[in-house]
Amino acid sequence: MLLRNIQRQTIRLFSRSSTVTSSYNQVVRKTVSDIHQFHQSQKPISVVTAHDFITAKLVDAGDIDICLVGDSLANTTLGYQDTNELTLEEMLYHVKSVSRGNDKSLIIADLPFGSFEASVEQATKSAIKLVQQGKAQGVKLEGGNKENIPTIEKLISVGIPVMGHVGLTPQKHNALGGFKLQGKDAKGALDIYQECLNLQRAGVFAIVLECIPNKIAQFITEHLNVPTIGIGAGPYTSGQVLVISDMLELKNPEESHIAKFVKPYAHFYQLGVDAMKQYKSDVESKKFPLADEHGYKVKKDVFEQFKNEAQKL
Ligand code: KIV
Repeated sequence: MLLRNIQRQTIRLFSRSSTVTSSYNQVVRKTVSDIHQFHQSQKPISVVTAHDFITAKLVDAGDIDICLVGDSLANTTLGYQDTNELTLEEMLYHVKSVSRGNDKSLIIADLPFGSFEASVEQATKSAIKLVQQGKAQGVKLEGGNKENIPTIEKLISVGIPVMGHVGLTPQKHNALGGFKLQGKDAKGALDIYQECLNLQRAGVFAIVLECIPNKIAQFITEHLNVPTIGIGAGPYTSGQVLVISDMLELKNPEESHIAKFVKPYAHFYQLGVDAMKQYKSDVESKKFPLADEHGYKVKKDVFEQFKNEAQKL
């Protein structure tokens, strides 16, 4: 009884959040505190990207901890050459769609290239847009160099949780000379570790480590107090992230370069193509639609009346 009263009071206390209702079969969205707790208890953190309502629903149904609206949206879903073409307005449109489709994961949105680098003020306005209009619970931004730190501190000071991202940072692919493994030599690995320390000091709640050697990721993970989320960083990070189009194999694997670190958990592309072919064949052979199974009936007298009147037209 006492426990129930405490539960009821807790629900009332947090009832200003839209996903928490006063019923017991409520849906409670994960927060940065949950992520912190998972890290403390060494529970691996699952992260998957979503780019719209329908992919967000999949992430939600899979009870994934963090749903990342990554700017990989640009090349995986929107057909752009690279992430640098994506604008803040486009990102916002997709974050809104993801938020409508996911009630349970912590939703983090990427700050796209060009939406945060110019000034702390620009970054703050962009991040507020993603949180206020997009209903994201936090933002991710690439890079942990000294220039980004005042920005990150400001965002955290206004109440926006920030996720860092180091190693291969695709927004800087022009400067990095492509999409390559980072931290291969001691100097490169040290720079990445230094960025992680800068980010941790600034107050990020987690850091994505992208495409760096396993042992470097392990060292960094063991020497930080915040969780690391790996992609192409091996098994020794605090969590893992995969891009949804990679993990579901939504693209033709024969036409796209698949990074070594990707594991497809399903083969949606082939399923989709097979379904298209079967449908075309059914339409052409008149196997679809079937009158009774897929069609609607009209009453005999209604049809007779319709026919009589129609013939007069
Ligand atoms: O944009 C994205 O999807 C990302 C992940 C690869 C971490 O940043």
